[in-house]
Amino acid sequence: MRSDVTRAHYDRLADRYDENWAYSPEFIRWMTDDILDRLRLGPGDLAMDLGCGTGLYSRGLARHASTVVCADPSPAMLEQLPADERLIPLHSGAEDLAEGRIAPPHDGYDAILLKEVLHHVTDPPRVLAGLARLLRPGGRMLVVMLPTSIDYPLFSAALRLFEERQPDPTGIVTAMGRSGLAAELSYDEFPLAFTVEHYTQMVRNRYMSLLSSFDDAELEAGISEIRREHSGPEVRFPDRFAFVLGVKA
Ligand SMILES: C[S@@+](CC[C@H](N)C(=O)[O-])C[C@H]1O[C@@H](n2cnc3c(N)ncnc32)[C@H](O)[C@@H]1O
Repeated sequence: MRSDVTRAHYDRLADRYDENWAYSPEFIRWMTDDILDRLRLGPGDLAMDLGCGTGLYSRGLARHASTVVCADPSPAMLEQLPADERLIPLHSGAEDLAEGRIAPPHDGYDAILLKEVLHHVTDPPRVLAGLARLLRPGGRMLVVMLPTSIDYPLFSAALRLFEERQPDPTGIVTAMGRSGLAAELSYDEFPLAFTVEHYTQMVRNRYMSLLSSFDDAELEAGISEIRREHSGPEVRFPDRFAFVLGVKA
């Protein structure tokens, strides 16, 4: 997706973004624990949440690090950050930071998180190499992303488009290795359940940026397909994530 289209998507979604996830504080807790287990933050650590969105996971980082720079190219998403002096908003995309067009407020970071961001970045290997230079010795970079295929109860055209676009986590491991990081890949999943009514409303709200590629009529046709495929009151599916952790020597 082009960056102006991505920005418009998140600017439009910003004030409803947390609502889509508010159904499950358990999910946020589960994901926060998975992130913290891998980033192993210490109390003096400087962290960056790049593509932080509304800061759903910046809050968890701030409980363990001294400061979290929350960077995002969408001003509307940044406006939703909670007021907390340990969260420092930075209006920037990953490319501008990686290529030095925007200077972050510190010389180096102990931890950089990119959660569900890399599919928006035009040249992930180049961006990861630039970001690796922002890590202090011993610093950790964690990319959290969906795998190459998902079991979401979406309509078939959306699932096809997802598979066409989604970068492969094994390619991220290779890119981190080439950037001088020791990289490893792991997976974890969380069981989700919604009423069909709730899930189709999330789809109508275009809760995934992918859904912005469909116009209103295509989306309604997709929702009818979801209803045909799921005649019961609920949809249940595993939300599976890849975690690529890179550590700088
Ligand atoms: C799916 S949301 C994830 C937000 C947050 N990390 C979370 O997990 O709740 C993707 C975020 O990436 C941001 N984004 C889009 N393009 C980006 C880029 N080129 N560099 C950094 N962030 C980007 C969007 O504005 C949005 O806030």
